[in-house]
Amino acid sequence: MHNRSLHFGLHALAALWLLCAATTARATPTDDSVWVVLGPQGQAVARYLTSQPCPDIVVDGSTHRMHLRAAAALEAQRPTASPASASKAANFAQRTCEFDLPAGTHSASIHGSNLPVAHDSYRRIVVIGDTGCRIKSGEPAQACNDPQHYPFAAIARAAARWHPDLVVHVGDYLYRENPCPDNQPGCQGSPWGYGSDSWRADFFTPARALLQAAPWVMVRGNHESCQRGGQGWWRFLDPRPLQAGRDCNLASNDMRGNFSDSYAVPLGDSAQIVVMDSAAVPRQPLEADDPRTQALRASLEQALQLTHQAQFNFLANHHPVLGFAAFYGHDGQAELAPGNSALQALLRKMQTGLYPASVDVLLSGHVHVWEQLDFAGTYPSQFIAGFSGTQEDIVPLPAHLPPDAQPAPGAQVAHFSSWVNGFGFMTMQRRDNQRWDVQIHDREGKVVNTCTIEGRHSQCKRDQIED
Ligand SMILES: [Fe+2]
Repeated sequence: MHNRSLHFGLHALAALWLLCAATTARATPTDDSVWVVLGPQGQAVARYLTSQPCPDIVVDGSTHRMHLRAAAALEAQRPTASPASASKAANFAQRTCEFDLPAGTHSASIHGSNLPVAHDSYRRIVVIGDTGCRIKSGEPAQACNDPQHYPFAAIARAAARWHPDLVVHVGDYLYRENPCPDNQPGCQGSPWGYGSDSWRADFFTPARALLQAAPWVMVRGNHESCQRGGQGWWRFLDPRPLQAGRDCNLASNDMRGNFSDSYAVPLGDSAQIVVMDSAAVPRQPLEADDPRTQALRASLEQALQLTHQAQFNFLANHHPVLGFAAFYGHDGQAELAPGNSALQALLRKMQTGLYPASVDVLLSGHVHVWEQLDFAGTYPSQFIAGFSGTQEDIVPLPAHLPPDAQPAPGAQVAHFSSWVNGFGFMTMQRRDNQRWDVQIHDREGKVVNTCTIEGRHSQCKRDQIED
């Protein structure tokens, strides 16, 4: 009796194992990552990161093999922003696969799991930025292993629960640049450097819920310049075809790899997001004969030109042009730093008021706070959403700005709102052609402030959120 029961139990276990194995074979392997990025004209590209051969993708019932975008490779070590003693060659242990989803695609799936697809009109947009866990030589490291101190995964889950139809990341994905120091328990065991293990820990794993929720617009940050995470940027995230020489693998090609054309993602109903690559812009104005001047001016000109093709324009680039950062001066007092001077200088030569009237709202990150500015004159509103995981900037911003505080000469602030030392995400819900309802959410998704955008103007309910 006992033996028969055991025998039956083993059979049941074997059957269960077979069932699980069959289910697992169909499901997306847990080490793999899948996402959809939108590029020029809203072209949706499905991407898949895997150690296996590129999988099939089923698009509206037809099966296709995904194309290889980038093979697994251990790239030769290149000079980086990190000291040589804290650098290593970037190892990309997985291959990146991709497939262009035709316009009007209703459904797409890989291994039986559905992918988010593009829409004609986007009405519910999540905006996040600056999401990696900061480990940098010579500085106290962020406690990457503690979700309280590195909450990107929780923020991604909360943002997914809001059910966006689009996600915009305003740049800076990779922050684990150097080894975790021995004396800092919060980041022990973390991968580091610019290879795929760091990318997975800093981005693909914590972002998973939000990558499944909606297609993304991916803006490039300075952490994705060629001297930092640029190799991964081109392999994984940039929406356009990968070009040899524009991949940040060789420093001699960095002038190509560090810059790229601007493009527009239509949101429907004559609204769009124009995306500009400012990864390699310095803080201070460039000399006229610096080759970067020409490259950045071309990107800005393209971006501004693109804004003439829609009635409502978000302009997204990583470095805020019309926002403030705060820092402690020599006397220990908090001081305000203006917007990026190099971009301001280039824009000033193109346009009075820095931007044409077609630009309504600037979306940026880089400063690790949430911030909103509305202007008295002919300037677009500026929003900063660099508060979604990376160690926060904690120097306080004033609740009310001094009367002479201007993020760019002549830009007179009419309304200013901020949240310093609070992690979260921002949402924008379209009300009509010119109006969007903005909410600021904490890491769990609780709304802590609300704002309205109306044309170029914006205003928030609360001037400042105390953490
Ligand atoms: Fe940045």
